[in-house]
Amino acid sequence: MRSRYIIILFFSAAFFMGCTGEDSEVLIQQNFTSNLPSPFSTISFPEDNDYSEERWELGKKLFYDNILSIDSTLSCASCHKSELSFSDDVSFSKGVKDRDGVRNSPSLANVAFHPYFTREGGVPTLEQQVLVPLQEHNEFDFNIVLAGERIAQDSIYVAMSQKAYDRMPDYYVITRALANFERSLISDNSYFDQYHFDAQTDALSNSQKRGMALFYSEKTNCFKCHGGPNFTDYSFQNNGLYENYMDQGRKRLTEMESDEALFKVTSLRNVEVSSPYMHDGSLQTLRDVVDHYDSGGKSHQNKSELIKPLNLTNEQKEDLLAFLLSLTDNEFLTDKKLKNK
Ligand code: HEC
Ligand code: HEC
Repeated sequence: MRSRYIIILFFSAAFFMGCTGEDSEVLIQQNFTSNLPSPFSTISFPEDNDYSEERWELGKKLFYDNILSIDSTLSCASCHKSELSFSDDVSFSKGVKDRDGVRNSPSLANVAFHPYFTREGGVPTLEQQVLVPLQEHNEFDFNIVLAGERIAQDSIYVAMSQKAYDRMPDYYVITRALANFERSLISDNSYFDQYHFDAQTDALSNSQKRGMALFYSEKTNCFKCHGGPNFTDYSFQNNGLYENYMDQGRKRLTEMESDEALFKVTSLRNVEVSSPYMHDGSLQTLRDVVDHYDSGGKSHQNKSELIKPLNLTNEQKEDLLAFLLSLTDNEFLTDKKLKNK
């Protein structure tokens, strides 16, 4: 999987297929070559949490274990399902005691490359992000210190923890091990990748190629927010979903009016399986998403200028939709190594 990127280094500058419009070719080039070597080829681990097999195994076990929720009914995987690109298929996943969540569970594909976490971006590292579901009333409703004590009663966890971090299971081990596992959730073999990086010209249909040209065009502007290798620039934007938002978005963090209803731009990798869509899961299908962008969205004082009526023909909508499906990476979705044993 990874060795492919060495090849890109040599190929991507010289090689490009002539199936899309010339402008979009240049734009796609810019989105993928300016970051070479591909960020997916090197996952950077923090100094105190370098990768090791023992750490990864422990993180994976914790990810799938109900032990971290207060009443031992839920695991991380209850809301982040591997076959759904580690997202969930409901608008709001239920927390412990059937409590309703307030946001849609996002995909965890390539989270190693996010510069910050949650939709307002208030959490700087994957290690710290572990505390969010653990303590959240609507999720595990537990406490990291107590979780450590509970795990320390289990001799298997004690042995694994000693091997991985040379200490008893505690808050340090839980946050580090889970983050270590999460960094390995790499999705880089979609049909789009096969076409673009492996030069498999038949990996995309003609409709998908037309949709790709639309995606990387000034007509739709999709790439201006969903750019780069992860199909997000990680900026905070308003895409015109509502006139009045229940969720304050980034304003929750900054308390600034100019941040009201801004949400982190979502990665589109494996978007086919991450339905329903948007921070509140209010759009059920990708067709609804395309119709939303085509309409130009609702007016909101913070709506991006890039969101405006597109006047797409039916064929163009179909093409855009087809392109979004090309971001599905079946190798990742079915990877046995990442699933619960
Ligand atoms: C009850 C459902 C639920 C459970 C259980 C849960 N999560 Fe989440 N997760 C969510 C939701 C909802 C969000 C989005 C939060 C937001 O945007 O504010 C999220 C966000 C995240 C993010 C940030 C992704 C991003 O794009 O910023 C990571 C990483 C994550 N979860 C990992 C975990 C881990 C690890 C566990 C187990 C310790 C876990 N989650 C348990 C629902 C859940
Ligand atoms: C101004 C920046 C911007 C532009 C331009 C833009 N988007 Fe988005 N997109 C966002 C933001 C922000 C979100 C998340 C909104 C939320 O969470 O409510 C999003 C969410 C999405 C989602 C939902 C992903 C998920 O898993 O929930 C899809 C699909 C999507 N955009 C596709 C597109 C397409 C296709 C285009 C071009 C027609 C486009 N976007 C143009 C900012 C943008």
